[in-house]
Amino acid sequence: MKTRVFYFSGTGNTFALTKKIAEKTGSDLISIPKVMNSEKIHIDAENMIIVFPSYMAAVSGVPLIVERFVRKIDNINELIIFAVCNCGGYPSVNALPSLHKLHRIIKYCGGKLYAHYSLRLPMNNLDYDHIPIPINKNSEDIIRKSKMKTERICCSIINKKKSGYRLLKSLFFFMMKPVYKLISRAVIKELKAKAHEPMDREMTYHELVPLTDKSIIVDENCTGCGICAKVCPAGNIKIVNKKPEFLHRCEICFACDEWCPTASIHHWSRASGVKYHHPEISLADMIKEQCDHI
Ligand SMILES: Cc1cc2nc3c(=O)[nH]c(=O)nc-3n(C[C@H](O)[C@H](O)[C@H](O)COP(=O)(O)O)c2cc1C
Repeated sequence: MKTRVFYFSGTGNTFALTKKIAEKTGSDLISIPKVMNSEKIHIDAENMIIVFPSYMAAVSGVPLIVERFVRKIDNINELIIFAVCNCGGYPSVNALPSLHKLHRIIKYCGGKLYAHYSLRLPMNNLDYDHIPIPINKNSEDIIRKSKMKTERICCSIINKKKSGYRLLKSLFFFMMKPVYKLISRAVIKELKAKAHEPMDREMTYHELVPLTDKSIIVDENCTGCGICAKVCPAGNIKIVNKKPEFLHRCEICFACDEWCPTASIHHWSRASGVKYHHPEISLADMIKEQCDHI
């Protein structure tokens, strides 16, 4: 049975994870941004694995491009679908709601999520300040543990093991609903500020995210090298007069920010932030494997 692994990655965590999954399960690895130009996507395999990072778990959890990808699949009802979500915080609070959201999108499109798995990788902006419970911040240690978890996930996929605890999960979501609602309100407010939209205007998460590039800062160290435009999986950057210009179809993946060779691009006024990308993934790999369609 043929298996295809589709992934989306901003700073290399998901890419490193997907490479391992593809290798262990003997599957072909395909970048989601590379197939997004087609109006419809036909998956020529029996099994499909979707690997993605959790984005704003309390509001959505699924990157917009991953959601659009799923909606484009024209034979979703024929597939055995596995999903692997990675996140920077606690998987139960962050990856689980993201997987639940993906499950709902797949179901809406007529498919079924066969099994889902989650694991932790470093928070790609290395900002752990908003997590109220103490958490391991050592990237090396997190990556080492993620490799063991990846092995277990691959075994489960190969053995077609279903993810269990349905009742527990439903109970968890029921209990967390008011908390997510509260966080969600705060996140939308923050996104409106980043998108330079008035607070009293009704706007959805899906409308706001692409516009948040309005608050990306490019500092005086920018040389106009154009790496940001090459590494952006959304094709959201154009170099004009040796400076990046953002086209308001941002996926908030932080790729431009974290891969900039002169560390001159700062998301959301995060001017003093330390940069991160997965240590085993190179910029050349990211551009070649994920973005060379642009
Ligand atoms: C815009 C954005 C939102 C994120 N939201 C969450 C979140 O709600 N919970 C969480 O645990 N991690 C969150 N993360 C962290 C990522 O899920 C995590 O670092 C992931 O490994 C990044 O994968 P990548 O390197 O493939 O892009 C967020 C990252 C970004 C860029």
